[in-house]
Amino acid sequence: MIKVSRLTKYYGPTRAVEDVTFEAEKGEIVGLLGPNGAGKTTIMRMLTGYFAPTSGTAKIAGFDIIEEPMEVKKRLGYLPEVLPLYYEMVVSDYLEFVSQIKGITFKERRAKVAKALGLARIEDVKHRIIGRLSRGYKQRVGIAQALLNDPEVLILDEPTIGLDPKQIIEIRELIKSLGGSRTVLLSSHILPEVSMTCEKIIIINKGRVAAVTDKAAIEGKDRIIVKLLGEPAKAAAALSKVKSVANIEQSLEGPFTVLTLESSGKEDIRQDVFKAVVESGLILVEMRQASHTLEEVFLKYTAKEEDAR
Ligand SMILES: Nc1ncnc2c1ncn2[C@@H]1O[C@H](COP(=O)(O)OP(=O)(O)O)[C@@H](O)[C@H]1O
Ligand SMILES: [Mg+2]
Repeated sequence: MIKVSRLTKYYGPTRAVEDVTFEAEKGEIVGLLGPNGAGKTTIMRMLTGYFAPTSGTAKIAGFDIIEEPMEVKKRLGYLPEVLPLYYEMVVSDYLEFVSQIKGITFKERRAKVAKALGLARIEDVKHRIIGRLSRGYKQRVGIAQALLNDPEVLILDEPTIGLDPKQIIEIRELIKSLGGSRTVLLSSHILPEVSMTCEKIIIINKGRVAAVTDKAAIEGKDRIIVKLLGEPAKAAAALSKVKSVANIEQSLEGPFTVLTLESSGKEDIRQDVFKAVVESGLILVEMRQASHTLEEVFLKYTAKEEDAR
């Protein structure tokens, strides 16, 4: 549904985005995660036709952003980082006004506004003045305007920025409810934000894709930590023979050897690990599963970039 290929953007001599390639399937909620200045907003602005890429391109619902921008616009809803709201307007009037700008016919307008109010769950404030709404409700009005043209693809730039914890949870729920039939691309510089909302996470660092990961990879229990009594080299040799153990890291903790096993397979290898320990005459003190956290993934890839500089 979204197919980004080699997108690059320079602001004069400054490289903001370089060679960014990723995809989002229909119905998927995909997150762009990266520190401030990573290039997230720039990527979104190119996808929404706000400005042209320096090179590379993208397709939205099969239409090229450079060659068929009007077709793209019809299928896209966009919530910019800075809310495009007129604070003195009443919510429903504002949405009618935006529908007009978006070229929705007078006949359709009322139904489209009603639908967007419903999806964004703001029917109860439709007669209120936007400027007097809470920040969370303002954000919902912003999301409602993005939904007016019934888009197949929704692009939300930092949708929870500036919200309090309760509002954040509500907006997250709202975003999740909007996925499924629509493809959602959102950006955030906050780790839990993307890990809680998105199935697929694209880590952006210094304008580049540093890593692509998904919820399953982050939540997967892909590591086993074994604490035992015995010589480290002997322990590592014994456990490296266990099927699907791909990597072993060793460390010492007082009198104990601690081994972190990375498994390449999906099956639970704990019984095999236990047997291997016993058969080698080692004494098992503790064994537990652990997963890579998004923090680890993020730090690993952003640190790598640092080192390369
Ligand atoms: N209009 C602009 N002119 C010049 N540089 C810009 C402009 N907008 C953004 N940049 C620079 O491009 C880089 C990426 O910015 P941005 O896309 O806003 O990142 P993010 O949204 O991830 O915080 C930053 O280094 C920023 O300073
Ligand atoms: Mg930004």
